[in-house]
Amino acid sequence: MSTNLSAPVRPIAIIGGTGPAGMGLALRWVRAGETVIIGSREHGRARLAAESIISRVGNEARISGMENSAACAAADILMLTVPFEGQASLIKRLKPAITPGSILIDATVPLAAGIGGRASRTLGIWQGSAAQQAAELVPDDVAVVAAFHNCAADLLGGDNPLDCDVIVCSDDPDAAQLTRELAAKIPGVRAIDGGRLENARIVEQITALLVGLNMRHKGHAGIRITGLPPTAYR
Ligand SMILES: NC(=O)c1ccc[n+]([C@@H]2O[C@H](COP(=O)([O-])OP(=O)(O)OC[C@H]3O[C@@H](n4cnc5c(N)ncnc54)[C@H](OP(=O)(O)O)[C@@H]3O)[C@@H](O)[C@H]2O)c1
Repeated sequence: MSTNLSAPVRPIAIIGGTGPAGMGLALRWVRAGETVIIGSREHGRARLAAESIISRVGNEARISGMENSAACAAADILMLTVPFEGQASLIKRLKPAITPGSILIDATVPLAAGIGGRASRTLGIWQGSAAQQAAELVPDDVAVVAAFHNCAADLLGGDNPLDCDVIVCSDDPDAAQLTRELAAKIPGVRAIDGGRLENARIVEQITALLVGLNMRHKGHAGIRITGLPPTAYR
């Protein structure tokens, strides 16, 4: 574990947090004053990732690095940012370490690139979506939320406000609300209640479209939902 995890208050463990998506979320949440644990299959990699965030945010940053199962055991808000091809086996391996009553926020996009296909295409999943697959694999008392699929990691890892909405889908209203609150801590992000977890299949698909747009136009596309009353946006 690296330095700076003092008096952890509701830590967020980012499982697979050493990649661009996890690092971007970690940076934004640490800047917002949250306590974050970066998880990795290798403790040393997690520690280095945490140190790189400290070097950007400063010594007041409340962040540490742990092996994924230790990170799970140390937090009851889990943010999953691993490639689809590793998602199921990782959840199965981590299941005994997950604290009862935890929330698992899943950002997994089932891109075909994971099995040698195109990054602008998705895979068909029996359960309907990667998030629903996760829900089938976690312990019964763990609430699964789907969120953060449509924000470009390159921009999350930067210093400017994002130009992106986060659609949050879950069958657990309390877990969804907490996730919207966490999303809204990222400058420029508006969080929107996207309804039940089954809607994750649509939100995940949007990312494949965004990947294709990025390739075509050389950008970092995100989404904005317009036309809803102000109360719909957090
Ligand atoms: N990149 C984006 O812009 C973006 C945006 C929205 C959503 N997403 C989704 O968020 C997830 C993470 O994206 P990313 O770009 O950060 O992914 P990534 O860099 O490919 O992977 C993130 C981390 O997952 C761990 N990992 C890799 N393969 C694994 C496996 N087979 N089993 C267990 N852990 C594994 C690695 O950490 P360790 O080696 O340290 O364990 C890696 O650093 C993906 O599902 C992606 O579709 C990405």
